[in-house]
Amino acid sequence: MGQLDLRYLVEPGGRLRGRLRVPGDKSISHRSIMLAAIAEGETRISGFLEGADALATLHAFRRMGVRIEGPDQGQVWVRGVGLRGLRASDRPLDMGNSGTSMRLLAGLLAGQSFPVTLVGDDSLSKRPMRRVTEPLSAMGARIGTTPAGTAPLTLEPTTGLQGIDYPMPVASAQVKSSLLLAGLYATGETCVTEPAPTRDHTERMLTAFGYSVRRRAARVCLTGGGRLTGCRLSIPADISSAAFFLVGASIAPDSDLLLEGVGINPTRVGVINILRAMGGDIELLERRLAGGEPVADIRVRHARLRGIRIPVDQVPLAIDELPAIFIAAACAEGETLLTGAEELRVKESDRIQVMADGLTRLGIAVETLPDGMRIQGGTFGSTEADTTGRHEAIETHGDHRIAMSFAMAALRAQGPIAIRDCANVRTSFPGFVDLAASVGLDIHEHQA
Ligand code: S3P
Repeated sequence: MGQLDLRYLVEPGGRLRGRLRVPGDKSISHRSIMLAAIAEGETRISGFLEGADALATLHAFRRMGVRIEGPDQGQVWVRGVGLRGLRASDRPLDMGNSGTSMRLLAGLLAGQSFPVTLVGDDSLSKRPMRRVTEPLSAMGARIGTTPAGTAPLTLEPTTGLQGIDYPMPVASAQVKSSLLLAGLYATGETCVTEPAPTRDHTERMLTAFGYSVRRRAARVCLTGGGRLTGCRLSIPADISSAAFFLVGASIAPDSDLLLEGVGINPTRVGVINILRAMGGDIELLERRLAGGEPVADIRVRHARLRGIRIPVDQVPLAIDELPAIFIAAACAEGETLLTGAEELRVKESDRIQVMADGLTRLGIAVETLPDGMRIQGGTFGSTEADTTGRHEAIETHGDHRIAMSFAMAALRAQGPIAIRDCANVRTSFPGFVDLAASVGLDIHEHQA
């Protein structure tokens, strides 16, 4: 019997109004478990994302002997075991769909005295891992991949890692974080230089756990052999999840939405900068700090958007939000051009091709580029049978962000939009359908 397919059917039109809080930040949730586990003493976490990706990280540490209670309504309690207290798991650690779990754990586990194998689902098993295994090997790690440089990753015990001074060839927070986490176990200093700023949650959170991290311009360094001390962490709502609502409210006439407690770390706010440059009406209210991270309530109202050339320096700051931004671009007046985003091709799906196929399916004129896309603003059709008799649903290729992006497109579509392969929305945004419906999206899910 074939696997059931979770589908969305989204009715056209409507508007988004009211207030809501999207779930906790995925990047920060992963790091909270990792650092709490290797800290000394207890850590209490609130606002933890109970999505499959962050839970994969949590379960991995339980398998390595860490006592963790929860999550219970976003509350997690971790009894840290210290840098050297992790134990071998009796089976491979399953990272599911989560690239962050696999790449960060490769670094954190590279210097352990026990062997470990990291496995993932079909999508994760196709994603490039040499970007972490090569510099980790240069530090003295013994890591195997498939001949294609993909998972499973097999880590052999090491007698010790050496610090590294690494200029990153791609702007990747996962690579930076992986090396910094390995650096905790290395002798001497580990430094990573970024070609462009990427999310700095690892650096901020290490500091919150009392570990010294030094930054000078694009170079970030730490010295191995220190200790982390358990603490309290409060995780902001995920701007990457808020992004669907920022776009939905921007494109749907008469929308007015308040998104509560969203993380607005400067390394993550590309979606706000880009939507504003397109004419978006976005206000940041009640700015404050939560757990070392800046947070605000975000008010977004409908606006007439115009196409822009997306500034290349905004790309790493909006890397996960670009699928949603493509939906905004399709509703804008004129052309939007994105370049410098080749990384989109190696996310949970090839997000350039998969978004281009879906947009084309809905009647939007696009041109794919090796590193981006050209999108001509237009009108979304529908996935209902058209004059050619086609009525296939939008294909997400199992990518959560593709599914949620096209759900928002329905707000401006001429007919219903059907979207298939949506089960992975649970990796980052459990409860998406109910939350979106509560502010006005006419969305229903069903198994087909
Ligand atoms: C993440 C970094 C980004 C992002 C991913 C989460 C992180 O990946 O796309 O969803 O938590 O460090 P890259 O580092 O590969 O750009």
